[in-house]
Amino acid sequence: MRIAIVNGPNLNMLGKRDINHYGALTLDKINEMIDDQFHHVDFIFYQSNHEGFLIDFLQTAQFDALIINPGAYTHTSIALRDALETIDVLKVEVHLSNIYEREAFRQVNHSIYGKKEQSYIEAVAYILEKLS
Ligand code: DQA
Repeated sequence: MRIAIVNGPNLNMLGKRDINHYGALTLDKINEMIDDQFHHVDFIFYQSNHEGFLIDFLQTAQFDALIINPGAYTHTSIALRDALETIDVLKVEVHLSNIYEREAFRQVNHSIYGKKEQSYIEAVAYILEKLS
């Protein structure tokens, strides 16, 4: 079981972003926490600030399930949305902050949000349950 965990723009700046929305952990720390909690799972961690690089990753990497936090591209990127549509694996979208309690432009359909780093942990647990 190989799960890709993909993070979009500015998520490499976690730790320096608004703690109230995103928590205090860096992205490396969150990834380490996921790895520690699910050590039997093979993870590929990928982060990019660039829409095209994210799409290239989705089109070329090999994985059985995907957890993605597209950051601000969630609200703007049709290209990323189209790329996701062509990938035939279980996909879970996560957000650290509660986008429903924020600006209207952030409020579109999402799966797991508002639980800071626990959003990722819940996404992995959901995939493991679904695919077992
Ligand atoms: C985010 C929410 C987005 O609205 C924002 O642009 C981000 C992070 C989140 O994890 O809560 O960069 O995806």
